[in-house]
Amino acid sequence: MLTSRPRGTEDILPEQIANWYFLEEIARQVCSLYGYQEIRTPLFEHTELFNRGIGDTTDIVEKEMYTFNDRSGRSLTLRPEGTAPVVRAFLEHGLESRGLPVKLFYFGPMFRYGRPQAGRLRQFHQFGVEAFGSRDPALDAEIIALAMDFYARLGLTGLELHLNSVGCPECRPCHHQELKKYLRPYLNEVCPTCQNRFERNPLRIFDCKSPICQEIVAAAPTITACLCTDCAEHFAQVQAYLKELGLAFKLNEHLVRGLDYYTNTAFEIMVAGIGAQSAIGGGGRYDGLVQSLGGKAVPGIGFGLGLDRALLALEAQGRELPRSGGVDVLVVTAGTGTETAAVRLLALLRAAGLKADRDYLGRSLKAQMKYANRYPARLALILGEEELGRGCAAVRHLDSGRQQEVALEKIVSYCQQEKERGW
Ligand code: HAM
Repeated sequence: MLTSRPRGTEDILPEQIANWYFLEEIARQVCSLYGYQEIRTPLFEHTELFNRGIGDTTDIVEKEMYTFNDRSGRSLTLRPEGTAPVVRAFLEHGLESRGLPVKLFYFGPMFRYGRPQAGRLRQFHQFGVEAFGSRDPALDAEIIALAMDFYARLGLTGLELHLNSVGCPECRPCHHQELKKYLRPYLNEVCPTCQNRFERNPLRIFDCKSPICQEIVAAAPTITACLCTDCAEHFAQVQAYLKELGLAFKLNEHLVRGLDYYTNTAFEIMVAGIGAQSAIGGGGRYDGLVQSLGGKAVPGIGFGLGLDRALLALEAQGRELPRSGGVDVLVVTAGTGTETAAVRLLALLRAAGLKADRDYLGRSLKAQMKYANRYPARLALILGEEELGRGCAAVRHLDSGRQQEVALEKIVSYCQQEKERGW
């Protein structure tokens, strides 16, 4: 137990970290192109924030939250998602006063107690964005374009964008009524969870994974027919802008998303080849959330993209990812009196901006050369007794085996030149 990680969590090992730097760097690049600024919120929040924000009839709140009492008896929850915390921070710091729209992004681990399987973790990672203060459908299109741009820059292909409008509090009662009318005859057949949610939130059946519920809901009335004029127009505009941007989408009337805060635009991005958990990202508009968490009626829209799933998709598509590790120079010592020179040279190389390391285990010369190859290093800087006596050292290019003697005072600039030349 002490040597195994909790179920549904992953260690990110040194050789994998470059993949994560890559994802984060692309996300930062895209966000800065679109005018979004980073925000970091705590990993845990007051439980009430999620109960109210996400909705207490959702799977997340009913079954998936890591909730605990701290030592003073407060109920806290590891964040299962990023939107409610960002809205809380938006309100707490009065970010609205900086001028709307406020456009934010974030990365980080999220926690959900689900049944672990390929692509479904209990601690997973999201890249998310949230934009506050505008109902303009062009902003919906921008948010979707940003997500698709991120995937394109990663080199992912074959993505499917599913789009729906889930309406507003005006059009929802009509749909609830229609839905309940349709579902009532099946009430004994649907799963116990959907039976429980029938009165309070019948919409959740669209999101239920039970095969029977899925079969029943396949022919259920969707919100589309109930959309009010405002919502229908908004939705048409979003689609027109997406077409303008050349972004293909599939209308999916059954897409409701697993969180209750959505209004109008809802979308999900799917990719094949990563197993059953094919939604690599999703999001939508939440025009009532800021108000329901105690603020003014400020509209919002955003998305959360699963980075663990993005990496699975990149691997499935055979995309070459950057390699981790490696140094420019490995300093190799051979003989008495060379240790001190190694300490000094290592410091000089690093001060000049070269990635440099050395052996600390007293390996033989041969073993140090093996170490340099395995590291891998570009150059081995070999400090031999006799060469040092003459004020020189040997520099070996590990790729080609080419070796040259260089005066000690020129070694740093020599290594820099070689690096600039691309070795
Ligand atoms: P979500 O659909 O619950 O939305 O999660 C977004 C993405 O996170 C999913 O599409 C999936 O890629 C990834 N994800 C979710 N659960 C897991 C898991 N257990 N293991 C691995 N990956 C997972 C939200 O979280 C909303 N906050 C998105 C949003 C932001 N809507 C508006 N703004």
